[in-house]
Amino acid sequence: SLPKQVRLVEVGPRDGLQNERQPISVADKVRLVNDLSAAGLSYIEVGSFVSPKWVPQMAGSAEVFAQIQRKAGVTYAALTPNMKGLEAAIEAGVKEVAVFGAASEAFSQKNINCSIAESLARFAPLMEAAREHDIRVRGYVSCVLGCPYEGEVAPGKVAEVARELYAMGCYEVSLGDTIGTGTPGKTRALFDTVAREVPRERLAGHFHDTYGQALANIYASLLEGIAVFDSSVAGLGGCPYAKGASGNVASEDVLYMFNGLDIATGIDLDALIAAGDRISRVLGRVNGSRVARARHAG
Ligand code: HMG
Ligand code: MG
Repeated sequence: SLPKQVRLVEVGPRDGLQNERQPISVADKVRLVNDLSAAGLSYIEVGSFVSPKWVPQMAGSAEVFAQIQRKAGVTYAALTPNMKGLEAAIEAGVKEVAVFGAASEAFSQKNINCSIAESLARFAPLMEAAREHDIRVRGYVSCVLGCPYEGEVAPGKVAEVARELYAMGCYEVSLGDTIGTGTPGKTRALFDTVAREVPRERLAGHFHDTYGQALANIYASLLEGIAVFDSSVAGLGGCPYAKGASGNVASEDVLYMFNGLDIATGIDLDALIAAGDRISRVLGRVNGSRVARARHAG
């Protein structure tokens, strides 16, 4: 049977915007985060404390954190690849961070300039410092259903990296289909394999929609007992170090599906659509959510 309740992790302000070349003002980013919390999202990934040379768009993350309206009960999180990132996050008053590794060696090198083993070794002192500061740490594994450089990725490799992240103290591990090549059968098999190492209730799904498979993969994940999903308002996004990666699955589309399945999320669809419309106007592009487009046409 399907879960009665799921948690949506809104990654639009981070995963969605990190790839944008045009400058986006701090005010527009703050407005997006505030719109999302007002729509009922309880978890928002606000930005990243990464090298500004690598991801220029995330350089203003500390200012965004300083200016958002913090709503009670909402988690505002940031990506931190190393101690320097964690220190900047602490300075900005961030209470939850995420480390991000990969199941592919080539992708790890391109994205964070080190091997998988080196990345895990870097995360260890970060985890310890985070614990001392009462900061919760989420873990990501990228390329779980395919790598832009290596092609097929073995589920066993994903399980191994997920196990390491969980063992070092990540309270949840999100499995990222970075380039959206996964299909529902492979998604089920992946969660089945990884769940032997990390409990299902500690796993999340993060699907990019490059091949139009994301909603199907989320449904497949629900059948595997997964109840946390990452998504991006208006389908914004992509990873700058994964060529051809498109946006995350649109939060509006995921919510529409959950509503149809009577799965509770606490999110208001109309308010979410309005938030997506607003940021799409700022970016000068069509809203990437099919549900939003259908509502406008109807
Ligand atoms: P590096 O060049 O190997 O770092 O980059 P380094 O330690 O050798 O330092 C070099 C310079 O960077 C130094 O500055 C450091 O101070 C600075 P310099 O002396 O040259 O002026 N530096 C930093 N500055 C700010 N914040 C920091 C930081 N660390 C070092 N935290 C590094 C290694 C990890 C920093 C770099 O590769 C990086 O920032 N990568 C981030 C890439 C990224 O953000 N990718 C997108 C997010 S992951 C994703 O989208 C996937 C996900 O959505 C899941 C999925 O879809 O699969 C999560
Ligand atoms: Mg992503």
